[in-house]
Amino acid sequence: MEMQKCYPTVSNDYQKGVDKCKRKLRGLIAEKHCAPIILRLAWHSAGTYDVKTKSGGPFGTIKHPSELAHEANNGLDIAIRLLDPIKEQFPILTYADFYQLAGVVAVEVTGGPDIPFHPGRPDLSEPPPEGRLPDAKKGVNHLREVFGHMGLSDRDIVALSGGHTLGRCHKERSGFEGAWTRNPLIFDNSYFKELISGEKEGLIQLPSDKALLEDPVFRPFVEKYAEDEDAFFTDYAEAHLKLSELGFAEGQ
Ligand code: HEM
Repeated sequence: MEMQKCYPTVSNDYQKGVDKCKRKLRGLIAEKHCAPIILRLAWHSAGTYDVKTKSGGPFGTIKHPSELAHEANNGLDIAIRLLDPIKEQFPILTYADFYQLAGVVAVEVTGGPDIPFHPGRPDLSEPPPEGRLPDAKKGVNHLREVFGHMGLSDRDIVALSGGHTLGRCHKERSGFEGAWTRNPLIFDNSYFKELISGEKEGLIQLPSDKALLEDPVFRPFVEKYAEDEDAFFTDYAEAHLKLSELGFAEGQ
């Protein structure tokens, strides 16, 4: 059903760089406990893709101050700064590949599923317009619209929302405060368990999270992922792979 992707070939040196960089990223992310913000960086980098105009997407533009200044990206300068010392060691890699590789490693080192990584994304110079990422204060229609622009499905929306198993909201970045789960440095299916069991003291559920319970298509996925972590991991890995390759290596 899906169109076969047609990945570019990279040089041996490039592939070696990817492999070595992956090891360095594992070390950094484990040492700094920064998997959550690194995953958020990779997602905000890719999630600007617009399938109609084929603009935006995981092409390294998020390092530009103008894109970092988008309201949705508040705080992501921290992630860029954390990653810079590793990037400096691998000048051969594009920023585009580097940020997506870091996102894949963030999921891996916190106990999440392995996500395939294909190198070869170019760095583009033109940041996307502001306003393509979801607004946490909005509900189901908004989520479908925003992820629809990316070309992602209802199942992808629910699976990817499980990324909130990691990390937390910071008042000074988004206006919200608190983590979604009791173990925000572990990638598991606890986001879905917490979502179903309802808001509790000290944990947060954004309006956009709660919206997943209200919709007749979204809700069964939430229930399935809460019960079956393997099913969540399989669907998450597939959705994350898609996200990380929006606009990249589309069949020609
Ligand atoms: C469905 C729509 C989504 C909305 C409205 C949303 C909104 C938010 C908000 C408001 C924050 C708090 C930022 C802060 O204050 O530091 C956040 C954090 C985060 N988001 Fe999302 N998000 C969405 C989807 C995703 C997806 C698809 C992923 C990854 C697959 C993701 C991964 C994360 C992570 C890991 C954090 C924690 C960052 C940290 O701890 O510093 N989010 N998100």
